[in-house]
Amino acid sequence: MTRVGIIGVGFMGMVHYLTYQKLVGAEVVALCDCDTKKLEGDWTGIQGNFGPPGEHMDLSKVTTYESADDLIADPNVDLVDITLPPAAHSGVAIAALGSGKHVFCEKPMAMTVGDCDRMAAAAKQASRKLMIGHVLPFLPEYAWALREIRSGAHGRPIGGSFKRVISDPAWLENYWDATAVGGPLLDLHVHDAHFIRLAFGMPKTVASRGSQRNGLPEHWHSLFGYDKPEVTVQVTGGTIRQAGRPFLHGFEIHLERATLVFEFAVIKNADGSDEGRYLCPPTLLNPQGVAQQVEMGDGDPMNAFYAELGHATQVVQGVAEPDMLACDLARDAIEICRLQADSLFAPDNPAT
Ligand SMILES: NC(=O)c1ccc[n+]([C@@H]2O[C@H](COP(=O)([O-])OP(=O)(O)OC[C@H]3O[C@@H](n4cnc5c(N)ncnc54)[C@H](O)[C@@H]3O)[C@@H](O)[C@H]2O)c1
Repeated sequence: MTRVGIIGVGFMGMVHYLTYQKLVGAEVVALCDCDTKKLEGDWTGIQGNFGPPGEHMDLSKVTTYESADDLIADPNVDLVDITLPPAAHSGVAIAALGSGKHVFCEKPMAMTVGDCDRMAAAAKQASRKLMIGHVLPFLPEYAWALREIRSGAHGRPIGGSFKRVISDPAWLENYWDATAVGGPLLDLHVHDAHFIRLAFGMPKTVASRGSQRNGLPEHWHSLFGYDKPEVTVQVTGGTIRQAGRPFLHGFEIHLERATLVFEFAVIKNADGSDEGRYLCPPTLLNPQGVAQQVEMGDGDPMNAFYAELGHATQVVQGVAEPDMLACDLARDAIEICRLQADSLFAPDNPAT
């Protein structure tokens, strides 16, 4: 049994807590938050864009801490699960690894590549696992694409395009603060940067054009070049200055003998309700152009967290490799984001 301590009982902390309740082989033994209401079990104020609403919880079997250091010192905890705001990830992860704990940390790994490297060094020094929670490869559409790519059945990936766009998430605290969250590049687009790194490897060249806000990339188009000049990946990401785009993501992935396409959006209906729907269902186009639509199950994002945290637990138990949870991939995703921002802000960029 892997004994888990979660630090940060917000939207993600709650999603992780509820997920561990369903996982065989993992048990939440400790929780930490600086908000004592959460530690008393009042999670009614927690809200996110999926999953159940926060409720009153019975935490009588869980040890609660106001300070991350105290949870880290708890000898009953094997795995520290960090669901804190991004700027707090590196310090808490390094402290937990230094105390001999395994660490699972939500994306983005950290605010800077330097902090990512310090986290990875701490894991190596302590001989402990450090995994980063990039859930996208566990979402059914991306998991399907990754399986098709890795199977080799359709040849190598030769290019593609990815999209992830929202309206300004005005309800998120510190979103446009470069030191606290890092705007849509580190909060939102980092998912695609990680998936592209996983599927295509590290790009050799990165060029971006787009808008900026508060000194942060706001909405952009980036082009990634690889060793083979014919392989290019294009990605569109960020927030738009118009309130009517709740969420959109998708891809078109070109393999030598197949194309994988998918696009999903949350659309506001005339009665004001939000509805998630495929603009293009996950589809494989074969070399003759015949479209094969692929069934994906019920699409509940909570299932992706079940798969992700189940995988993390198996890594801690020594029966699985980190694979898509590996910290070096997550570190490279931050590096890709940095290269995109550097290009966007370069003095020779006409948009600057
Ligand atoms: N994988 C995904 O799809 C996904 C979705 C949402 C958020 N996230 C990530 O999860 C992380 C947390 O995001 P969230 O939306 O849950 O944030 P949140 O603001 O809802 O929750 C953060 C919690 O941490 C607590 N906290 C802050 N500083 C603390 C400290 N020093 N000590 C103890 N507690 C402290 C806050 O009181 C709050 O309860 C972020 O890195 C975010 O990018 C991932």
